[in-house]
Amino acid sequence: MSELRFDGRVVIVSGAGGGLGKAYSLFFAARGAKVVVNDLGSGLKGEGSSAAAADLVVAEIKKAGGEAVADYHNVLEGDKIVETAVNAFGRVDVVINNAGILRDKSFKSMTDKDWDDVFNVHLQGSYQITKAAWPIMRKQKFGRVIMTSSAAGIYGNFGQANYSAAKQALVGFSNSLAYEGHKYNIHVNAIAPLAASRMTETVMPQEILNALKPEFIAPVVGYLAHESTAQTGGLLEVGAGTITAHRWEGTAGVVFKADQSFTPTAVKARFDEICNFDGPVTYPTSIKDNDWVGKLEEARALATNAQGGDDELRFDGR
Ligand code: NAI
Repeated sequence: MSELRFDGRVVIVSGAGGGLGKAYSLFFAARGAKVVVNDLGSGLKGEGSSAAAADLVVAEIKKAGGEAVADYHNVLEGDKIVETAVNAFGRVDVVINNAGILRDKSFKSMTDKDWDDVFNVHLQGSYQITKAAWPIMRKQKFGRVIMTSSAAGIYGNFGQANYSAAKQALVGFSNSLAYEGHKYNIHVNAIAPLAASRMTETVMPQEILNALKPEFIAPVVGYLAHESTAQTGGLLEVGAGTITAHRWEGTAGVVFKADQSFTPTAVKARFDEICNFDGPVTYPTSIKDNDWVGKLEEARALATNAQGGDDELRFDGR
């Protein structure tokens, strides 16, 4: 199979001065893309700024014969990053929303600023760049957007309430844009990477870090960004050369009769059944996949709910 190339394509990579973003930038440039290497050059917690991070990556790309331009804007100024791309290369084909910071703290100790700063870089930043690139992509009837989520966003994680909320929000954002972009050949996907970077180097042993090279995330980002990919609205967990796709799974559930007997006690009595993933399951892929009409008919045909009316779960003193 021939190499997937990006000749003539303009790729914006946010937070590309190090870690994953740097690996993506080198990857795309080596395959013919013109790359906007965006990085504010901040510390892990978002403190400070420096042009050096983006400059070094651009220098490395140019040394290898590639084309790239540095951009030092905060992702909150996404329109200016897109402007850099248009001014330097005349178009935008691919946006990799990758910039990120951490402010890990237990929820009890988390300040409003810890919450806002993390939301701003991850969610608001991804919104700002994508919003500015969107009309260009629509007009040219081509675009590829990748949101960077995280396992912490999918599953939650202790000490990461801010980060996981922002990362899960990016999955919803990605899924909705996948619908809106479809008829314009704009494909939008989310990845949850795991890689050795300054973000993970203090929380993982060296042996594991050695296996988690940022370069091992680039092939899936490359595939999702390529014109040949049909995938959109996907969520992929990626790390150390393993890629898994994720989807929602629902239980068959329980249909209750919506009458006086539909009480918390009735729910309690059948809660194990409601949560039984060992029985038949569903894999809804869209908001339309839940058969509410069928369930309403099923409910109508039911007699009253067993165990519903005879007891009451109370909240006195709560
Ligand atoms: P990193 O800290 O090496 O890279 C993030 C880059 O974003 C830095 O170069 C930083 O200067 C830049 N940045 C931060 N705030 C910015 C802003 N406001 N505007 C522009 N640039 C900004 O971290 P890493 O590991 O490469 O992370 C990349 C992305 O992958 C992040 O979104 C992170 O949350 C996500 N991720 C990484 C995981 C990992 O295992 N490394 C796990 C899950 C998600």
